[in-house]
Amino acid sequence: MTRIFSGVKPTGHLTLGNYLGAVRRWADVDQNRADALFCVVDLHALTVEHDPGRVRRLSRQAATLLLASGLDPKLCTVFVQSHVDEHARLSYLLECVASDGEMRRMIQYKEKAARERTRGGSVRLSLLTYPVLMAADILAYGTDEVPVGDDQTQHVELARDLAVRFNQRYGHTFVVPRATRPVVAARVMNLQEPTSKMGKSEDVGPGIVYLLDEPEVIRKKIMRAVTDSGQDVVYDREGRPGVSNLLEILAACEGGNPEGLAGVYESYGSLKKDTAEAVVELLRPVQERHRELCADPAYVEGVLRDGAEKAREMARPWVDAAYRAIGLLPPA
Ligand code: TYM
Repeated sequence: MTRIFSGVKPTGHLTLGNYLGAVRRWADVDQNRADALFCVVDLHALTVEHDPGRVRRLSRQAATLLLASGLDPKLCTVFVQSHVDEHARLSYLLECVASDGEMRRMIQYKEKAARERTRGGSVRLSLLTYPVLMAADILAYGTDEVPVGDDQTQHVELARDLAVRFNQRYGHTFVVPRATRPVVAARVMNLQEPTSKMGKSEDVGPGIVYLLDEPEVIRKKIMRAVTDSGQDVVYDREGRPGVSNLLEILAACEGGNPEGLAGVYESYGSLKKDTAEAVVELLRPVQERHRELCADPAYVEGVLRDGAEKAREMARPWVDAAYRAIGLLPPA
């Protein structure tokens, strides 16, 4: 059976980008067709300046939102990365296979390191090695497919490269994984700055729709989205990034395609209004279920405890095999 692994990092509140680019597909498709694991990757949240209490709160919230989005512990494994030691164990071995040059070429590293430097902060070494830990997350489970948004493509490519290199040097050990992306909304853009990704970690403000935003807030953010000069509704991501972003969001909510929808609208106003309502309706059941789950924290904790136990059992043989293959003496 196909093995799927993916994760979300608790560095901010989950956004519409996370939902459309990744989480919705995990719930609607992936958990039903494969042996799937979904993880709150909390170790990754320590790679930038962080507040320990906030990381804990966001980890709990992210796990609750994954369940509210429809992940079903009877169908898939939901857990927190730091509860399974195998991720960090394997990460070190993969650091011995990766080169510093390939780490420094990672786009997200370059962008985030530059941002930390302009804030006057130092860049944590873990920010540089982050993609290796991500590769370990994936390779520790013999993963075939990694359902992600567009921005993670380069990181999954690295996981592939490391798997191939490890296998060539030390004998066949890892499955070589591949990324899968949604057909539309693989990169949802910031509503106020439609040439930048809608990201939970870096930004604050009116350009980001959070999964837990009140309906009125969602409507306001979408109605105030920056559109492009020109009046007609055309799908052209390069030339008309603002309108194209709204068309993609609407298409993702309603199941159409953005080019086709462009022909239906004559004004930006009616496109915004319909997009706002579609997003409110899409998120309504997630928000309701989230409220219910918040009233039952013991249930969420139980899911995470069982999930970690299952994940540990799945990861252990892959990581032990890598320890043996690379030349480490097995314990007596
Ligand atoms: P993260 O937490 O930034 O995002 C979680 C998932 O949401 C997708 N995504 C988006 N998709 C479309 N439009 C957007 N604006 C948007 N923003 C985010 C991301 O592509 C991702 O699929 N490094 C990862 C977490 C990670 C991981 C892994 C993922 C760690 N280990 C192993 C897969 C497998 C990250 O920072 O995702």
